[in-house]
Amino acid sequence: MTYEEIRKQAKENLDPTKCSACPVCNGIACRGRMPGPAARGTASSFTRNLEALEKIKLNIDTLYEAGTPDTSFDFFGRRLSLPVMCGPIGGVKASFGAHYEDDETYTMDLLKGCLDAGTLAFTGDAPVPTVYTAPMKAVKTWGNGIPTFKPRNLEDAKWRIAMAEENGAAAIAMDIDCIGLPPLRNLDPPVKAQTVEELAAMIALTDKPVIIKGILNPKTARKAVQAGAKAIVVSTHSGRVIDQLPAAAEVLPAIKAEVGDEVKVFADGGVRSGLDVFKYLALGADAVLIGRPYVQAVYGGGAEGAKVYTDFIRADLVNAMYMTGALKLSDITRDMILVP
Ligand SMILES: Cc1cc2nc3c(=O)[nH]c(=O)nc-3n(C[C@H](O)[C@H](O)[C@H](O)COP(=O)(O)O)c2cc1C
Repeated sequence: MTYEEIRKQAKENLDPTKCSACPVCNGIACRGRMPGPAARGTASSFTRNLEALEKIKLNIDTLYEAGTPDTSFDFFGRRLSLPVMCGPIGGVKASFGAHYEDDETYTMDLLKGCLDAGTLAFTGDAPVPTVYTAPMKAVKTWGNGIPTFKPRNLEDAKWRIAMAEENGAAAIAMDIDCIGLPPLRNLDPPVKAQTVEELAAMIALTDKPVIIKGILNPKTARKAVQAGAKAIVVSTHSGRVIDQLPAAAEVLPAIKAEVGDEVKVFADGGVRSGLDVFKYLALGADAVLIGRPYVQAVYGGGAEGAKVYTDFIRADLVNAMYMTGALKLSDITRDMILVP
């Protein structure tokens, strides 16, 4: 299948009352439509991510010693074909429609496609425990999953980390920004803020790299590093937890300056092309996550959809590297973009 065919099929398979499969997934058509993939309130914490990236332009330089760009990325000793992973999206049936009956069948396709494309996928968590547990079959089968759970208490973290380890997770992640969602605060045990000591106790439960997701300022990044995180994700949860946040691209440089020498810094929100990947990398990210477009690709083409979509993103990134003379990821520097 071509990416165009996948997009066409996605339009058929996605529930149109939830997701309109827009040519560019930008949070405008779905504004106010929840449950679904929309953002909260005015959706500015979603749309601003795309607006901020759009304002940044490439600063090309095509006079250099020619070579072939290498997009490969080291993820804790594992070689990925590009610095892009699929971000965690839990509960796809509720948000995107019944083409996939549950998170197990969806994740089996997603992780297979990401593996074929040489990358990893995070899996999600929600009030219903199966959103966390159902993807474990795919995590075990394909070996390229990163289970992501919401911070509750140590007992809860114990069983989730044990399950991730038993199923051969590539790493483990926690989305600490999800405490903004009122229904999660009423769970038993409740999703809640953690002190550095509480977070450190959770991280100490595993030898796997722990990635802390949902950081928007250097202060939080510093605390996550103090607690033992091996990587962080600069992210607005793409507007799912609160309105009126800055774009991830706007706050990334300060966070990179604070902790970038100590841990890997990932970013997400609004990545819709390989050029956007390049922009985030030039701003200081080591790698990026992509959320909704992966779901659309899998709804349109199953495992092949995830593979073709990843290849589409990589081709664009390669082109940006050719045009700037960055032949490896570490060559991508801040002066290769123009930021207003
Ligand atoms: C329907 C939906 C469910 C999500 N579920 C989770 C989740 O369980 N855990 C998490 O950390 N992030 C979750 N996210 C946020 C994404 O992982 C990611 O931060 C965001 O989608 C990236 O932005 P993008 O969609 O603009 O690429 C979810 C997002 C959507 C749209």
